[in-house]
Amino acid sequence: MRTCNRCLCFILFITLIIVVVLSYLINGVNDSLISSDILIKQRECNNYSRPIIFIGGMPRSGTTLMRAILDSHPLVRCGEETRVVPRILSMRSAWKKSTIEWNRLIAGGISENMLDSAVRAFVYEILVQHGGPNVDILCDKDPFVLKHAVYMTTLFPNSKYLLLIRDGRAVIHSVMMRKVTITGFSLTDYKQNLKSWNNGIDVMVKECTKIGKNCFSVYYEQLVLQPRVTIENILKFLNIPWVDSVLHHDELIDKKISLSKTEHSSDQVIKPINLEALTRWVGHVPEDVKGNIDKLAPMLKQLGYDTKSAHPTYGIADPLVIKNTNNIQQNASYWNQKMKQYARKLPFQTSKKSV
Ligand code: A3P
Repeated sequence: MRTCNRCLCFILFITLIIVVVLSYLINGVNDSLISSDILIKQRECNNYSRPIIFIGGMPRSGTTLMRAILDSHPLVRCGEETRVVPRILSMRSAWKKSTIEWNRLIAGGISENMLDSAVRAFVYEILVQHGGPNVDILCDKDPFVLKHAVYMTTLFPNSKYLLLIRDGRAVIHSVMMRKVTITGFSLTDYKQNLKSWNNGIDVMVKECTKIGKNCFSVYYEQLVLQPRVTIENILKFLNIPWVDSVLHHDELIDKKISLSKTEHSSDQVIKPINLEALTRWVGHVPEDVKGNIDKLAPMLKQLGYDTKSAHPTYGIADPLVIKNTNNIQQNASYWNQKMKQYARKLPFQTSKKSV
Protein backbone atom coordinates (compact mmCIF):
# COMPACT_ATOMS: atom_id res chain seq x y z
CA MET A 1 0.00 0.00 0.00
CA ARG A 2 2.74 2.44 1.02
CA THR A 3 4.90 1.48 -1.96
CA CYS A 4 1.86 2.01 -4.14
CA ASN A 5 1.30 5.50 -2.70
CA ARG A 6 4.94 6.37 -3.22
CA CYS A 7 4.61 5.24 -6.84
CA LEU A 8 1.54 7.43 -7.24
CA CYS A 9 3.38 10.44 -5.80
CA PHE A 10 6.35 9.76 -8.07
CA ILE A 11 4.09 9.46 -11.14
CA LEU A 12 2.35 12.73 -10.22
CA PHE A 13 5.69 14.44 -9.77
CA ILE A 14 6.92 13.24 -13.20
CA THR A 15 3.59 14.28 -14.73
CA LEU A 16 3.97 17.71 -13.19
CA ILE A 17 7.43 18.13 -14.73
CA ILE A 18 6.22 16.93 -18.16
CA VAL A 19 3.20 19.25 -18.07
CA VAL A 20 5.28 22.25 -17.03
CA VAL A 21 7.89 21.57 -19.77
CA LEU A 22 5.23 20.92 -22.44
CA SER A 23 3.16 23.97 -21.58
CA TYR A 24 6.33 26.06 -21.58
CA LEU A 25 7.22 24.69 -25.05
CA ILE A 26 3.71 25.04 -26.46
CA ASN A 27 3.38 28.47 -24.84
CA GLY A 28 -0.38 28.51 -25.30
CA VAL A 29 -1.59 26.64 -22.28
CA ASN A 30 -2.43 28.20 -18.96
CA ASP A 31 0.29 26.35 -17.10
CA SER A 32 -0.40 27.88 -13.71
CA LEU A 33 -3.89 26.34 -13.68
CA ILE A 34 -2.70 22.87 -14.59
CA SER A 35 0.26 22.81 -12.29
CA SER A 36 -1.67 24.07 -9.28
CA ASP A 37 -4.19 21.27 -9.80
CA ILE A 38 -1.45 18.69 -9.86
CA LEU A 39 0.26 20.29 -6.90
CA ILE A 40 -2.92 19.97 -4.89
CA LYS A 41 -3.10 16.31 -5.85
CA GLN A 42 0.51 15.92 -4.77
CA ARG A 43 -0.21 17.42 -1.38
CA GLU A 44 -2.99 14.93 -0.98
CA CYS A 45 -0.66 11.99 -1.56
CA ASN A 46 -0.99 9.92 1.53
CA ASN A 47 1.43 10.95 4.20
CA TYR A 48 0.12 9.26 7.28
CA SER A 49 3.11 10.27 9.34
CA ARG A 50 2.16 13.96 9.10
CA PRO A 51 1.47 15.58 12.47
CA ILE A 52 -2.29 15.68 13.01
CA ILE A 53 -4.07 17.20 16.01
CA PHE A 54 -7.21 15.54 17.33
CA ILE A 55 -9.34 17.55 19.76
CA GLY A 56 -11.95 15.70 21.80
CA GLY A 57 -13.54 15.09 25.16
CA MET A 58 -17.10 14.83 26.37
CA PRO A 59 -19.34 17.19 24.39
CA ARG A 60 -20.01 20.55 26.15
CA SER A 61 -16.49 20.62 27.59
CA GLY A 62 -15.14 23.52 25.53
CA THR A 63 -14.05 21.49 22.50
CA THR A 64 -15.33 24.11 20.03
CA LEU A 65 -13.56 26.89 21.91
CA MET A 66 -10.36 24.85 21.82
CA ARG A 67 -10.58 24.28 18.08
CA ALA A 68 -11.42 27.96 17.44
CA ILE A 69 -8.31 28.92 19.42
CA LEU A 70 -6.15 26.58 17.32
CA ASP A 71 -7.91 27.71 14.15
CA SER A 72 -6.74 31.22 14.94
CA HIS A 73 -3.15 30.00 14.55
CA PRO A 74 -1.80 30.56 11.02
CA LEU A 75 -0.31 27.04 10.80
CA VAL A 76 -3.38 25.08 11.84
CA ARG A 77 -6.81 24.34 10.39
CA CYS A 78 -9.39 22.40 12.40
CA GLY A 79 -12.76 23.53 11.08
CA GLU A 80 -16.20 22.28 11.92
CA GLU A 81 -16.94 18.78 13.25
CA THR A 82 -16.65 16.22 10.47
CA ARG A 83 -19.06 13.85 12.30
CA VAL A 84 -18.02 11.00 9.99
CA VAL A 85 -14.59 10.43 11.55
CA PRO A 86 -15.90 9.21 14.94
CA ARG A 87 -18.59 7.19 13.15
CA ILE A 88 -16.19 5.17 11.05
CA LEU A 89 -14.13 4.56 14.20
CA SER A 90 -17.08 3.27 16.21
CA MET A 91 -18.18 1.12 13.27
CA ARG A 92 -14.76 -0.47 13.08
CA SER A 93 -14.75 -0.92 16.84
CA ALA A 94 -18.18 -2.62 16.70
CA TRP A 95 -16.97 -5.03 13.99
CA LYS A 96 -13.99 -5.93 16.12
CA LYS A 97 -16.01 -6.34 19.34
CA SER A 98 -18.49 -8.77 17.80
CA THR A 99 -16.74 -12.15 17.57
CA ILE A 100 -19.36 -13.44 15.13
CA GLU A 101 -19.01 -10.46 12.80
CA TRP A 102 -15.21 -10.43 13.06
CA ASN A 103 -15.00 -14.14 12.18
CA ARG A 104 -17.33 -13.57 9.25
CA LEU A 105 -15.09 -10.80 7.95
CA ILE A 106 -11.94 -12.89 8.27
CA ALA A 107 -13.67 -15.88 6.65
CA GLY A 108 -14.73 -13.59 3.82
CA GLY A 109 -11.17 -12.48 3.15
CA ILE A 110 -11.41 -9.10 4.89
CA SER A 111 -8.30 -8.96 7.03
CA GLU A 112 -7.60 -6.63 9.95
CA ASN A 113 -4.80 -4.97 7.97
CA MET A 114 -7.14 -4.33 5.08
CA LEU A 115 -9.70 -2.69 7.36
CA ASP A 116 -7.07 -0.57 9.09
CA SER A 117 -5.73 0.70 5.75
CA ALA A 118 -9.24 1.53 4.63
CA VAL A 119 -10.13 3.37 7.86
CA ARG A 120 -6.84 5.27 7.75
CA ALA A 121 -7.37 6.32 4.14
CA PHE A 122 -10.95 7.37 4.91
CA VAL A 123 -10.01 9.52 7.90
CA TYR A 124 -7.02 11.05 6.13
CA GLU A 125 -8.97 11.91 2.99
CA ILE A 126 -11.69 13.61 5.03
CA LEU A 127 -9.13 15.66 6.97
CA VAL A 128 -7.08 16.65 3.91
CA GLN A 129 -10.09 17.72 1.87
CA HIS A 130 -11.76 19.40 4.85
CA GLY A 131 -8.59 21.36 5.54
CA GLY A 132 -8.04 22.51 1.97
CA PRO A 133 -4.73 22.64 0.10
CA ASN A 134 -2.83 25.23 2.14
CA VAL A 135 -2.76 23.69 5.56
CA ASP A 136 0.48 22.94 7.36
CA ILE A 137 -0.94 21.11 10.34
CA LEU A 138 -4.15 19.15 10.01
CA CYS A 139 -6.52 19.23 12.94
CA ASP A 140 -9.79 17.51 13.68
CA LYS A 141 -12.35 18.33 16.35
CA ASP A 142 -14.82 15.51 16.84
CA PRO A 143 -15.38 14.94 20.57
CA PHE A 144 -15.74 11.15 20.53
CA VAL A 145 -12.56 10.48 18.57
CA LEU A 146 -10.81 10.55 21.96
CA LYS A 147 -12.52 7.24 22.76
CA HIS A 148 -10.34 5.70 20.05
CA ALA A 149 -7.06 7.52 20.68
CA VAL A 150 -4.99 4.35 21.11
CA TYR A 151 -6.22 2.89 17.82
CA MET A 152 -5.77 6.22 16.06
CA THR A 153 -2.12 6.42 17.08
CA THR A 154 -1.55 3.07 15.37
CA LEU A 155 -2.95 4.60 12.15
CA PHE A 156 -1.27 8.00 12.49
CA PRO A 157 1.95 7.60 14.48
CA ASN A 158 2.63 11.35 14.75
CA SER A 159 -0.85 12.39 15.80
CA LYS A 160 -1.37 14.35 19.01
CA TYR A 161 -4.47 14.47 21.19
CA LEU A 162 -6.03 17.24 23.25
CA LEU A 163 -8.49 15.87 25.80
CA LEU A 164 -10.87 18.56 27.05
CA ILE A 165 -11.97 17.97 30.64
CA ARG A 166 -14.72 19.94 32.34
CA ASP A 167 -16.57 19.60 35.64
CA GLY A 168 -19.24 16.96 34.88
CA ARG A 169 -21.90 19.00 36.70
CA ALA A 170 -21.31 21.88 34.28
CA VAL A 171 -21.36 19.51 31.30
CA ILE A 172 -24.71 18.07 32.38
CA HIS A 173 -26.21 21.46 33.10
CA SER A 174 -25.14 22.58 29.63
CA VAL A 175 -26.66 19.48 27.95
CA MET A 176 -29.98 19.87 29.78
CA MET A 177 -30.25 23.67 29.62
CA ARG A 178 -29.41 23.84 25.93
CA LYS A 179 -31.26 20.61 25.05
CA VAL A 180 -28.30 19.04 23.34
CA THR A 181 -29.10 15.50 22.21
CA ILE A 182 -26.18 13.15 22.77
CA THR A 183 -26.34 9.35 22.74
CA GLY A 184 -26.55 8.09 26.34
CA PHE A 185 -27.70 11.46 27.71
CA SER A 186 -31.22 12.46 28.67
CA LEU A 187 -32.79 15.93 28.62
CA THR A 188 -34.51 15.25 31.95
CA ASP A 189 -32.60 12.62 33.98
CA TYR A 190 -29.67 14.24 35.83
CA LYS A 191 -28.56 11.00 37.50
CA GLN A 192 -28.38 9.09 34.23
CA ASN A 193 -26.40 11.93 32.72
CA LEU A 194 -23.91 11.95 35.56
CA LYS A 195 -23.31 8.22 35.02
CA SER A 196 -22.99 8.66 31.25
CA TRP A 197 -20.53 11.51 31.69
CA ASN A 198 -18.55 9.38 34.14
CA ASN A 199 -18.39 6.38 31.78
CA GLY A 200 -17.45 8.50 28.78
CA ILE A 201 -14.72 10.51 30.45
CA ASP A 202 -13.37 7.36 32.14
CA VAL A 203 -12.80 5.72 28.74
CA MET A 204 -11.20 8.86 27.33
CA VAL A 205 -8.86 9.40 30.30
CA LYS A 206 -7.74 5.75 30.05
CA GLU A 207 -7.06 6.11 26.32
CA CYS A 208 -5.18 9.33 26.94
CA THR A 209 -3.09 7.73 29.69
CA LYS A 210 -2.23 4.77 27.46
CA ILE A 211 -0.83 6.92 24.69
CA GLY A 212 1.18 8.91 27.23
CA LYS A 213 3.26 11.79 25.89
CA ASN A 214 1.10 12.27 22.78
CA CYS A 215 -2.00 13.14 24.78
CA PHE A 216 -2.51 16.33 26.77
CA SER A 217 -5.39 17.04 29.15
CA VAL A 218 -6.86 20.53 28.95
CA TYR A 219 -9.14 21.59 31.79
CA TYR A 220 -11.86 23.91 30.47
CA GLU A 221 -11.81 25.85 33.73
CA GLN A 222 -8.08 26.57 33.40
CA LEU A 223 -8.45 27.41 29.72
CA VAL A 224 -11.01 30.13 30.42
CA LEU A 225 -9.51 31.38 33.70
CA GLN A 226 -5.86 31.49 32.59
CA PRO A 227 -5.89 31.34 28.79
CA ARG A 228 -2.36 32.64 28.19
CA VAL A 229 -0.49 30.14 30.32
CA THR A 230 -2.83 27.27 29.36
CA ILE A 231 -2.52 27.92 25.62
CA GLU A 232 1.24 28.39 25.97
CA ASN A 233 1.45 24.89 27.43
CA ILE A 234 -0.81 23.49 24.71
CA LEU A 235 1.30 25.01 21.94
CA LYS A 236 4.48 23.72 23.57
CA PHE A 237 2.98 20.24 23.66
CA LEU A 238 2.00 20.57 19.99
CA ASN A 239 5.40 21.98 19.12
CA ILE A 240 3.85 25.05 17.50
CA PRO A 241 5.20 28.59 17.99
CA TRP A 242 3.28 31.11 20.05
CA VAL A 243 1.28 33.77 18.21
CA ASP A 244 -0.87 36.41 19.96
CA SER A 245 -3.87 35.70 17.73
CA VAL A 246 -4.64 32.59 19.82
CA LEU A 247 -5.81 34.88 22.62
CA HIS A 248 -8.23 36.69 20.31
CA HIS A 249 -9.90 33.96 18.26
CA ASP A 250 -13.15 36.01 18.19
CA GLU A 251 -11.49 38.51 15.82
CA LEU A 252 -11.02 35.80 13.20
CA ILE A 253 -14.56 34.42 13.14
CA ASP A 254 -15.73 34.14 9.52
CA LYS A 255 -12.22 35.10 8.39
CA LYS A 256 -9.91 32.23 9.22
CA ILE A 257 -12.43 30.49 11.47
CA SER A 258 -15.55 29.03 9.90
CA LEU A 259 -18.50 27.98 12.01
CA SER A 260 -21.34 25.60 11.26
CA LYS A 261 -24.92 26.78 11.64
CA THR A 262 -25.91 23.31 12.84
CA GLU A 263 -23.49 23.06 15.76
CA HIS A 264 -24.64 23.86 19.28
CA SER A 265 -21.66 25.98 20.31
CA SER A 266 -21.36 28.39 17.39
CA ASP A 267 -23.23 31.22 19.10
CA GLN A 268 -21.03 30.91 22.19
CA VAL A 269 -17.68 30.61 20.50
CA ILE A 270 -18.14 33.89 18.60
CA LYS A 271 -17.40 35.64 21.89
CA PRO A 272 -13.92 36.29 23.28
CA ILE A 273 -12.77 33.84 25.96
CA ASN A 274 -14.97 34.63 28.95
CA LEU A 275 -16.23 33.34 32.30
CA GLU A 276 -19.99 33.34 31.67
CA ALA A 277 -20.31 29.55 31.63
CA LEU A 278 -17.88 28.71 34.41
CA THR A 279 -20.28 28.32 37.34
CA ARG A 280 -23.67 28.55 35.66
CA TRP A 281 -24.41 25.02 36.85
CA VAL A 282 -24.21 26.03 40.53
CA GLY A 283 -27.59 25.67 42.26
CA HIS A 284 -28.87 23.19 39.65
CA VAL A 285 -27.79 19.88 41.16
CA PRO A 286 -30.92 17.95 42.23
CA GLU A 287 -31.29 17.16 45.95
CA ASP A 288 -31.22 13.36 45.45
CA VAL A 289 -27.90 13.65 43.58
CA LYS A 290 -26.08 16.01 45.97
CA GLY A 291 -25.08 13.40 48.56
CA ASN A 292 -24.33 10.74 45.94
CA ILE A 293 -22.03 12.51 43.57
CA ASP A 294 -18.91 10.52 44.42
CA LYS A 295 -20.79 7.26 43.92
CA LEU A 296 -22.51 8.29 40.68
CA ALA A 297 -19.48 9.96 39.15
CA PRO A 298 -16.21 8.94 40.85
CA MET A 299 -14.29 10.47 37.95
CA LEU A 300 -15.11 13.97 39.24
CA LYS A 301 -12.98 13.48 42.34
CA GLN A 302 -10.36 11.52 40.42
CA LEU A 303 -9.95 14.46 38.07
CA GLY A 304 -9.47 16.79 41.03
CA TYR A 305 -12.89 18.45 41.25
CA ASP A 306 -14.21 19.48 44.65
CA THR A 307 -17.32 17.35 45.05
CA LYS A 308 -18.01 18.44 48.62
CA SER A 309 -18.65 22.09 47.85
CA ALA A 310 -21.88 23.31 46.27
CA HIS A 311 -19.96 26.25 44.82
CA PRO A 312 -16.37 25.19 44.10
CA THR A 313 -13.74 27.71 43.12
CA TYR A 314 -11.62 26.81 40.12
CA GLY A 315 -8.84 29.38 40.44
CA ILE A 316 -7.93 32.98 39.82
CA ALA A 317 -8.98 34.71 36.62
CA ASP A 318 -6.55 36.48 34.32
CA PRO A 319 -7.32 40.25 33.88
CA LEU A 320 -7.88 39.62 30.14
CA VAL A 321 -10.84 37.29 30.70
CA ILE A 322 -12.31 39.52 33.40
CA LYS A 323 -12.18 42.37 30.88
CA ASN A 324 -13.75 40.19 28.18
CA THR A 325 -16.55 39.06 30.50
CA ASN A 326 -17.30 42.63 31.63
CA ASN A 327 -17.34 43.82 28.02
CA ILE A 328 -19.83 41.11 27.06
CA GLN A 329 -22.09 42.03 29.97
CA GLN A 330 -21.88 45.77 29.25
CA ASN A 331 -22.72 45.22 25.58
CA ALA A 332 -25.37 42.58 26.13
CA SER A 333 -27.72 43.77 23.38
CA TYR A 334 -24.92 43.76 20.78
CA TRP A 335 -23.96 40.20 21.75
CA ASN A 336 -27.55 38.97 21.91
CA GLN A 337 -28.10 40.25 18.39
CA LYS A 338 -24.89 38.65 17.15
CA MET A 339 -25.72 35.36 18.86
CA LYS A 340 -28.99 35.25 16.93
CA GLN A 341 -27.04 35.24 13.67
CA TYR A 342 -25.07 32.17 14.77
CA ALA A 343 -27.84 30.38 16.69
CA ARG A 344 -28.19 26.72 15.85
CA LYS A 345 -30.54 25.86 13.03
CA LEU A 346 -31.79 22.40 12.18
CA PRO A 347 -29.89 20.95 9.22
CA PHE A 348 -32.83 21.42 6.81
CA GLN A 349 -33.06 25.12 7.75
CA THR A 350 -29.56 25.95 6.59
CA SER A 351 -28.90 27.33 3.15
CA LYS A 352 -26.16 24.82 2.25
CA LYS A 353 -27.73 21.97 0.30
CA SER A 354 -27.11 18.55 1.77
CA VAL A 355 -25.72 15.98 -0.59
P1 A3P B 1 -22.18 26.15 28.28
O1 A3P B 1 -23.14 25.39 27.43
O2 A3P B 1 -22.14 25.74 29.71
O3 A3P B 1 -22.35 27.63 28.10
P2 A3P B 1 -18.43 22.21 23.38
O4 A3P B 1 -18.06 23.09 22.28
O5 A3P B 1 -17.40 21.18 23.71
O6 A3P B 1 -19.77 21.59 23.18
O7 A3P B 1 -18.50 23.11 24.70
C1 A3P B 1 -19.48 24.11 24.84
C2 A3P B 1 -19.17 24.99 26.06
O8 A3P B 1 -18.03 25.80 25.73
C3 A3P B 1 -20.34 25.90 26.36
O9 A3P B 1 -20.69 25.81 27.74
C4 A3P B 1 -19.79 27.27 25.97
O10 A3P B 1 -20.29 28.34 26.74
C5 A3P B 1 -18.29 27.12 26.18
N1 A3P B 1 -17.64 28.15 25.34
C6 A3P B 1 -17.75 28.34 24.00
N2 A3P B 1 -17.14 29.46 23.62
C7 A3P B 1 -16.62 30.02 24.73
C8 A3P B 1 -15.89 31.22 24.99
N3 A3P B 1 -15.61 32.07 24.01
N4 A3P B 1 -15.49 31.45 26.26
C9 A3P B 1 -15.79 30.61 27.26
N5 A3P B 1 -16.50 29.48 27.09
C10 A3P B 1 -16.93 29.18 25.83
